[in-house]
Amino acid sequence: MITLKNVVLRRSSKVLLDGASVTINPGEKVGLVGRNGAGKSTLFALFNGSLHEDGGDFSMPRQWRLAQVAQNMPETEETATDFVVGGDTRLAEIRQALADLEHKHAEAPDDHDIGMELAHAYTELADAGEHDAVPRAQALILGLGFKVHELDQPVNSFSGGWRMRLQLARALMCPSDLLLLDEPTNHLDLDALVWLESWLQRYAGTMIVISHDREFLDAVTDVTLHIEQAGLNRYGGNYSKFEEMRALQMEQQQQAYAKQQDKIAHLQKFIDRFKAKASKAKQAQSRVKALERMEKVAPLLAEADFSFEFKEPDNIPNPMLSISDAAFGYVQEDEPAKVILTGVNRSVLAGQRIGILGANGQGKSTLVKTIAREMGALAGTVTEGKGLNIGYFAQQELDVLHPASSPLEHMVRLARDLGASSRERSTEQDLRGFLGSFNFSGDMVKQPVGTMSGGEKARLVLAMMVWQRPNLLLLDEPTNHLDLATREALAVALNEFEGTLMLVSHDRALLRSVCDEFWLVGRGKVTDFDGDLDDYQRYLLDEAKRQRELAKEAGRATATATASATATAAAAAPAPEAQAPAPAPAPAPAVSSREQRQLDAQERQQRQERQKPIKRELAKAEARMAAAGTEREQIEARLAQPLPPAEIAEAGKRLKALNEEIEGLEELWLKLTDELEATGA
Ligand SMILES: Nc1ncnc2c1ncn2[C@@H]1O[C@H](COP(=O)(O)OP(=O)(O)OP(=O)(O)O)[C@@H](O)[C@H]1O
Ligand SMILES: [Mg+2]
Repeated sequence: MITLKNVVLRRSSKVLLDGASVTINPGEKVGLVGRNGAGKSTLFALFNGSLHEDGGDFSMPRQWRLAQVAQNMPETEETATDFVVGGDTRLAEIRQALADLEHKHAEAPDDHDIGMELAHAYTELADAGEHDAVPRAQALILGLGFKVHELDQPVNSFSGGWRMRLQLARALMCPSDLLLLDEPTNHLDLDALVWLESWLQRYAGTMIVISHDREFLDAVTDVTLHIEQAGLNRYGGNYSKFEEMRALQMEQQQQAYAKQQDKIAHLQKFIDRFKAKASKAKQAQSRVKALERMEKVAPLLAEADFSFEFKEPDNIPNPMLSISDAAFGYVQEDEPAKVILTGVNRSVLAGQRIGILGANGQGKSTLVKTIAREMGALAGTVTEGKGLNIGYFAQQELDVLHPASSPLEHMVRLARDLGASSRERSTEQDLRGFLGSFNFSGDMVKQPVGTMSGGEKARLVLAMMVWQRPNLLLLDEPTNHLDLATREALAVALNEFEGTLMLVSHDRALLRSVCDEFWLVGRGKVTDFDGDLDDYQRYLLDEAKRQRELAKEAGRATATATASATATAAAAAPAPEAQAPAPAPAPAPAVSSREQRQLDAQERQQRQERQKPIKRELAKAEARMAAAGTEREQIEARLAQPLPPAEIAEAGKRLKALNEEIEGLEELWLKLTDELEATGA
């Protein structure tokens, strides 16, 4: 059990927690939420012992094993697999102890005690899961999106984002009683995210996870801790439940506040009126006391809401961009170029809002980086419209910030660099005002960026992008680190943006709310994606299954080196023809005439019409299945407790009925999915 009693936590002059009390029970799955800069990461520092409370009491069982994601970038020649196996600290400890004992044993082979200890250590090693440590580690690595042939590559050979995924895998590898995850989804794509959700759902210990992703939180937590105005409140439910309860609470608080204000006014009137009269003075006195003693209901301080807008672009070229017969990829020293995408023929028009989808490592960022001029095309042409002004936001963008400089210094530098081309000159006052509109006010404009929270940094990068007045926004995972209010502000601003938008994001809510069309990057191609995000989720599951099967084959083949090499080569090959045919959603024909496109569109629409009622039925069946499943779990849990016989009989009857219903629903579900497939053909 973790308990906080009247805890005070500070960071320099900021008071982040002031008298916070809360209890977390063993086995609970807790979502820790709150605005950017509220103090969530700081609270983790308290949990892991790197920071001490400035007041009050904090306690946690001493024997608890803690697992958390190391924040540093790993620098090692170890293979990905070995690195992740190393995350199992229990195994590592036992191995070390064993090595020591073996050494002692070699020196004194006749010592009976050492012999016994050695035997004991071997048993412990087996209990710690030594035999399957490697496959366990590899399942984690593959689950997080790595390819089979990457399992044995050195950690150093991966890019930053991928090394952080290895850190995550290492934390998951560690057997633990308490798992602390600070925004674990930031470096993940949608498919790795879905995998992580299902992994966490099976985790048995106590888990506390910081996240701004509503759907992720809903999937993995059942308790929510909210940091707000230096207080810590506990809600018994996942994120959606928390929102509901909080809305209700706020409404009640508002009513209570209004009522109390009435009462105060009444008392005050009484006091004012009677305090002059000697005969009533005593009564007035007691009212004054009552007023003083009254525990004041706080007024609802609406948290400073935040909104911003992109400036109207100076001009909007049309087309923005056209790409013909292009190949994208990476030029390598002394080696042939690594081709990721071929036959790319696309144009991007004014006002389009494109969501770019694709599984891990298929080339979304390659596409985006090439358009952003970070790298050249390997073949073909990318023609830019006249006056194209790209606003590019990438994950690495946060590294572009200078840790020692303040937001104001960043803006001064930016304004100076753009100064030559810009019409207006900006004074420091303007820049402060501009930063203020992005919620950097007071001391914060002077705070070194290095000490700011993740969300605060991301907000600064966003502000700097808006300042540049782009007409094409190229956003690669822009919502990482941003709290929900800021995400909503971003979604609103993007919806009002007059230029063109290209967005890569694992934030399903954002994709849904701002994109009208989707591109799919996969198997070496860029195609239109005909379908919605639910179709996409299914596509990802299929892809993941395919990857797993490839992995399994590779695993089976490791017995013979040659077979393994073939399998790995197959898994590595990006060319679509080298892979088993899988149901990629309607790849668009390479060249299609206008009529063909119209026909396709018609077809698509008819298909969607046919599918609609089936999908609705499916959704209903799924919802009912979920509800019945939950009830079944509840009843099973109840039956696990000692119960009076009458209740046992009743629960048993209900359980039977539920089982039958679920069976029926599963039948129906299968039938419906079959039908859906038939219409899709
Ligand atoms: N060394 C420091 N000096 C001054 N302020 C600091 C320092 N370290 C942190 N802060 C401030 O303390 C606040 C809390 O930071 P913390 O990283 O805990 O926030 P968070 O809730 O994790 O936010 P986010 O959602 O953005 O990650 C922030 O406003 C941050 O700027
Ligand atoms: Mg944080």
